[in-house]
Amino acid sequence: MRQKVAVLGSTGSIGRQTLEVISALSDRFEVVSLAAGRNVDLLSSQIEAFRPRLVAVADEEVAARLKSKVDDAVRVVWGRDGLVEAAIAGDPDVVVVAVVGSSGLQPTLAALAENKTVALANKETLVAGGELVSQVLAGGRGRLLPIDSEHSAIWQCLQGEASDRVAKVILTASGGPFRTASKDEMERARPADALQHPTWSMGGKITVDSATMMNKGLEVIEAHWLFGIGYDQIQVIVHPQSIIHSMVEFQDGSLKAQLGAPDMRVPIQYALCYPDRPPVAWKRLSLLDLATLTFEPPDLERFPCLALAYRAGREGGTAPAALNAANEVAVEAFLTERIGFGDIARCVESVLEAHTVTSAENLDSIVEADAWARQEAWEWIRRR
Ligand SMILES: NC(=O)c1ccc[n+]([C@@H]2O[C@H](COP(=O)([O-])OP(=O)(O)OC[C@H]3O[C@@H](n4cnc5c(N)ncnc54)[C@H](OP(=O)(O)O)[C@@H]3O)[C@@H](O)[C@H]2O)c1
Repeated sequence: MRQKVAVLGSTGSIGRQTLEVISALSDRFEVVSLAAGRNVDLLSSQIEAFRPRLVAVADEEVAARLKSKVDDAVRVVWGRDGLVEAAIAGDPDVVVVAVVGSSGLQPTLAALAENKTVALANKETLVAGGELVSQVLAGGRGRLLPIDSEHSAIWQCLQGEASDRVAKVILTASGGPFRTASKDEMERARPADALQHPTWSMGGKITVDSATMMNKGLEVIEAHWLFGIGYDQIQVIVHPQSIIHSMVEFQDGSLKAQLGAPDMRVPIQYALCYPDRPPVAWKRLSLLDLATLTFEPPDLERFPCLALAYRAGREGGTAPAALNAANEVAVEAFLTERIGFGDIARCVESVLEAHTVTSAENLDSIVEADAWARQEAWEWIRRR
């Protein structure tokens, strides 16, 4: 029998690649629901190709536009409740959470509460709600499998290893488009410059996060919750070629690394098929074609967002939720040219400074911290 899959964020970079993987493995998987924001044209062609029973979109106006394009057999829902419904309706075996931003948290919690397997691309979920997600996981039979390539690499390196053998995990970072840029060049950077990622093709928000290295900071917090590892045992190393996706160092000094072409379909397929590894049609990594693999330490002075994320992670409670929400607002303001590139870190730092950290053990406190930080960030932007 085929496994039923819900794909949340189906029109995005990860969502589209997830549907490619599902198409290639159509004897193993079927789509029961899709969720997206506003891209009605792409969503209606996905509905035609994959025949889901339920589709969720951002709001009622988008839902009306979609309904006029698809047949009545598809139920169209909207908003936050619609997104949650898409995560559980049709009893999916796997829920792929690939929406962008902290909107991934509630459908993830809902799916885990129903003991589903969640394949998680959306890193903001664990940044904002890692503590709560861990509680739900500990109290039920749901499973959380990473799609993010670095975390997939760590997960693969940890197969067959007891947790007390781990000395540290090493997250690799490409360094983004400004790896070798001066501080002045970075201050003057425009959205088009930040959106030029050297090795990965991704959605706009994560591409800007890669340029500030906030992406790596969010991944540090994500790794903390996924693998139950302390912040002192999580190291970031810049590896511009993005061939080693991450590493684990063990107590005996051995390092295990996972290597592959920079292609998100590989970790997506691993999460969907785990522990199987069916053959793929796409390009494989040829070691003989590689010139060199290089490594360097991150420059925390030019990339202060990485240090801010470590700080928020160590503070715990609602600090990471506030960091994440402020960053979402600042990235949006940068992309719409309301603030400069360097302002992203300054805005996030100002919000973190002003935030009163509380416990993040329930959804209300996370939602409240998220909303507070968004407002605080917009006020900072208005004062610029
Ligand atoms: N791209 C990568 O290679 C990559 C790698 C690792 C991790 N991730 C993580 O995966 C997540 C998705 O990244 P991405 O690059 O795929 O982003 P993306 O291309 O911007 O796609 C985001 C998706 O979320 C949907 N969405 C936005 N608002 C929504 C709402 N209110 N309700 C339902 N859906 C909504 C978008 O729909 P519309 O476009 O229809 O509005 C789109 O389908 C992020 O958390 C990112 O950090 C991405």
